[in-house]
Amino acid sequence: MAKILGGITTSHIPAVGNAIQKELYDDPYWKPFFDGYPKIHQWIQDHKPDYVINIYNDHGLGFFLDKMPTFAIGAAHEYRNEDEGWGLPSLDPFPGAPELSWHIIESMVADEFDITSCQELPVDHGFVVPMQLFWPGAPHHPDMPRTVPISANTVQHPIPTLKRALAFGRALRKALLSFPEEDAKIVVLGTGGLSHQLDGQRAGFINKEFDQYCLENIVHNPDELTKITRMELVEKAGAQGTEFLMWMMMRGALGDDVTEITRNYHIPISNTASGTLLLECAA
Ligand code: DHB
Ligand code: FE
Repeated sequence: MAKILGGITTSHIPAVGNAIQKELYDDPYWKPFFDGYPKIHQWIQDHKPDYVINIYNDHGLGFFLDKMPTFAIGAAHEYRNEDEGWGLPSLDPFPGAPELSWHIIESMVADEFDITSCQELPVDHGFVVPMQLFWPGAPHHPDMPRTVPISANTVQHPIPTLKRALAFGRALRKALLSFPEEDAKIVVLGTGGLSHQLDGQRAGFINKEFDQYCLENIVHNPDELTKITRMELVEKAGAQGTEFLMWMMMRGALGDDVTEITRNYHIPISNTASGTLLLECAA
């Protein structure tokens, strides 16, 4: 049977893709951000996951306002990204894992989650930037795992509740643990957040106190966070801070017993309070 090694979250700011392309790791603006990742690289090297479930939110590349699935799961052989405006070269495709995708889709639908299955899915910075951060050189890192992308709607209201996001993660855990490949090792990502707002009068809004509350509770008390309503989330985390839903989905997949290996929090990167967290599951 399969094993869930742990979960990793990170902000997925497009400017990070540009900083990676230009290798600005030691630049004074970028260093406090990139310093959050070497411990994660070490953990990945020590554990070598075979599969990565990348839970992100599409921002208009894979889906637009005309068709907006609440929960979508990729079931493709490979996933390609596209230029989103920085003029960065697009990457080679990321290898998919369709047999794991279909296993997850079957299990989630049996658990009464209504899924949009996607045999084609272009992936944006929400998917790509975290892969580049965790597996430098992705998709050509020597230990690059095969991937299943999962996207939830945080763009067009009504978005899912935090309670639903956590429940989705818990059902995903059941799906992953029942994947019949012997000794398959899986890591789950949650990308986006923390507080940020890109548009309107509050553009540039950041809320450190609320971010710290979320970071503290998501480790050992994620159910506490399900009390936050969606309107409260927009108010306290900013219009795009709703991406914290991805962190809740990731957290649900890890089970109750987790150990925090590392975290980083730095304000600002671009318009965002950037956060990273690595949680390891009990053996
Ligand atoms: C920024 C943050 C995001 O999450 C995103 O999707 C796009 C831009 C930013 O801070 O620039
Ligand atoms: Fe985003």
